Amino acid sequence: MTEVSVAKEDKAATGDLVVLDSVNKHFGALHVLQDIDLTIHRGEVVVVIGPSGSGKSTLCRTINRLETIDAGSITIDGKPLPAEGKELARLRADVGMVFQSFNLFAHKTVLENVTLGQVKVRKVDAKKAEEKARALLDRVGVGAQADKYPAQLSGGQQQRVAIARALAMDPKVMLFDEPTSALDPEMINEVLEVMKQLAEDGMTMIVVTHEMGFARSAANRVVFMADGRIVEEAAPDQFFSNPRSDRAKDFLSKILHH
Ligand SMILES: Nc1ncnc2c1ncn2[C@@H]1O[C@H](COP(=O)(O)OP(=O)(O)O)[C@@H](O)[C@H]1O
Ligand SMILES: [Mg+2]
Repeated sequence: MTEVSVAKEDKAATGDLVVLDSVNKHFGALHVLQDIDLTIHRGEVVVVIGPSGSGKSTLCRTINRLETIDAGSITIDGKPLPAEGKELARLRADVGMVFQSFNLFAHKTVLENVTLGQVKVRKVDAKKAEEKARALLDRVGVGAQADKYPAQLSGGQQQRVAIARALAMDPKVMLFDEPTSALDPEMINEVLEVMKQLAEDGMTMIVVTHEMGFARSAANRVVFMADGRIVEEAAPDQFFSNPRSDRAKDFLSKILHH
């Protein structure tokens, strides 16, 4: 067997982590996702951009089955998304999600927020879960806040806790849906820095964001959505310097030159 064919087989076996195949979804009369074909490779960072209402959040939510789809298929690591029960809980752990609103458990401490899922879903023992939580909180720069409640933290700190909480589950892929959109400007970078580090460490990431600096520096690929469709996808340099579609040109002119 030649080296080339071995490399190809490896890619087929391990390369494609998230695969959406002809995914369609409606909200009543609204065809919110239209024939979405999207493959995310292991270790790849894909930034999804597009106008408000184009279906970016819905796309993310279908990947961890917060929304069901009407047609097509979604597989994670070669397996179709489970419909319910324990397998669904495990899927949600495999697919870490960070939202615009921080979604921490308000009545649990920061440390508890990051240990709970490990114990409940991953069946890690309490001591190990706490060690891991503390290490992750240190990694995202909020180790000193471990015993506080979410409301006592800044938005940037809360969002970093949310990232640590998702990471505590050893996710295969991380979804970020506008993770910095609700933050005051001075806190945006501290969250983006954590995300950049995660990308450098090889995490597979799908990131919906309007932070074009992040897209340029951290993305392997930019996916541009409009009206429920993927209109264009390209490497960031290519996309930003030479967008092909009129929709992308129009969108970029609005966000880059305001
Ligand atoms: N649960 C829902 N029920 C009905 N319509 C929805 C629902 N969620 C989103 N939509 C609609 O679907 C479209 C796409 O929304 P969304 O995925 O949030 O777009 P984006 O994240 O790109 O702004 C919008 O028109 C929105 O109003
Ligand atoms: Mg959205």
